[in-house]
Amino acid sequence: MVSDSELKVCVLGLGYIGLPTAAVIARTGAKVLGVDVHQSVVDTVNSGKVHIEEIDLDGLVSGVVARGSLRASLNVEQADVFVIAVPTPFGENHAPDIGFVLKAATNAAIVLKAGDVVILESTSPVGTTEKVAELLASLRPDLKIPGHCVGVADVAIAYCPERVLPGRILVELIDNDRVIGGITPRCARKALQFYRRFVRGACVTTTAKAAEMTKLTENAFRDVNIAFANELSLVAEKMGVDVWEVIRLANRHPRVNILSPGPGVGGHCIAVDPWFLVSAAPEQTPLIRTAREVNDGKTDYVIGHAAAMIESNPAARVACLGLAFKANIDDFRESPALKVAAALAQRFGERIQIVEPYANALPATFDGTGAELIDVDSAIESCEIFVVLVDHDVFKSVPLDERADKLVYDTRGIWPDQPRLAGGEPLRLAS
Ligand SMILES: NC(=O)c1ccc[n+]([C@@H]2O[C@H](COP(=O)([O-])OP(=O)(O)OC[C@H]3O[C@@H](n4cnc5c(N)ncnc54)[C@H](O)[C@@H]3O)[C@@H](O)[C@H]2O)c1
Repeated sequence: MVSDSELKVCVLGLGYIGLPTAAVIARTGAKVLGVDVHQSVVDTVNSGKVHIEEIDLDGLVSGVVARGSLRASLNVEQADVFVIAVPTPFGENHAPDIGFVLKAATNAAIVLKAGDVVILESTSPVGTTEKVAELLASLRPDLKIPGHCVGVADVAIAYCPERVLPGRILVELIDNDRVIGGITPRCARKALQFYRRFVRGACVTTTAKAAEMTKLTENAFRDVNIAFANELSLVAEKMGVDVWEVIRLANRHPRVNILSPGPGVGGHCIAVDPWFLVSAAPEQTPLIRTAREVNDGKTDYVIGHAAAMIESNPAARVACLGLAFKANIDDFRESPALKVAAALAQRFGERIQIVEPYANALPATFDGTGAELIDVDSAIESCEIFVVLVDHDVFKSVPLDERADKLVYDTRGIWPDQPRLAGGEPLRLAS
């Protein structure tokens, strides 16, 4: 086995997963090349800076770039290990799009040599790693590709999903358990040797397909459970009961653990990946599909409820608190908060103010609406209605005496002490 300092690793895709992964591997002393299709990303990383917000990532990247352990390029170069961490969105009818994965594998194929390990980390539909092997076999008939050759293969191909939490990525990349699925058991063992260089959590080997489905299962589990909480929030509102109190009380049962409702489900993972299971087995997934629909439906409900509240108070200015898809991060992908705030801005124009401490400017979807980005203090001074969409710590810490006279629609339950009326009917501010 080559030493850490001799190991060459090529990470394809320098986003929320790829850049932290590249930096953590570079910290072991390995020579890491990060590849991205965007020149701006390559330039930023080569200057020792980061283009994404993640705790401690800036210091780590500047250190490993300064030491010469990490550099970035538009082009793939020869390496011992290739890690693919490119996007896997869905397209028409929620069908998964693995085009980025196949493109990255095609680029790696050009420089692939006997002895190399190719690992797919992107969240992928079941069977994608086998498709990567098939592609490599067709592009490199000179190499013995696992699943497409007799005897010992020249390269190893494996799937190893990420289950990191944004905001804790550098910790969880190392501490979390990893599931490593090989096209063959030998492939899994080769990939395992690589992860053992920097992972402290347990590394468990299995087949590529089982590892792919494990990742999708984890996210579908979260989605279904959040859908239960979101459905409860609608029932509780109809009954005039505080859902947060009901959940708190129900969770005192030793075998009940209900998650938190919110304005929907967002992010690159939980709002997307369950569709990969539904798309592959539509007849077998009524529950998973319904959970997706319940969570998306909650966003529409929040828009309608907030709009009714704003309409009932025509003179009031409105602060939408948060755009991110979850607390304390700058990631707005698939964010229900963004969707709600944008819908309200389109309808109510300059009455809507946006508070998002993780944004320097409003996203383009607000262009022409008249909505403005303001800080939380300005919102307290100038707005009468508060729509809480994200549970950022800075919002949680606003004390009751600064918001007691506000009309609050708290979709995250961050202010349990806020005076409220029972029932879901729109409230009217005292004139
Ligand atoms: N962000 C998360 O918290 C998270 C957690 C677990 C799993 N994942 C999965 O990891 C994968 C990557 O997610 P992400 O959040 O890092 O995405 P991202 O969009 O932040 O980053 C992906 C990067 O890949 C680059 N890219 C696209 N095509 C490329 C190619 N052919 N070669 C090289 N680079 C290319 C893009 O320019 C981008 O910088 C996805 O499958 C995602 O579902 C993400």
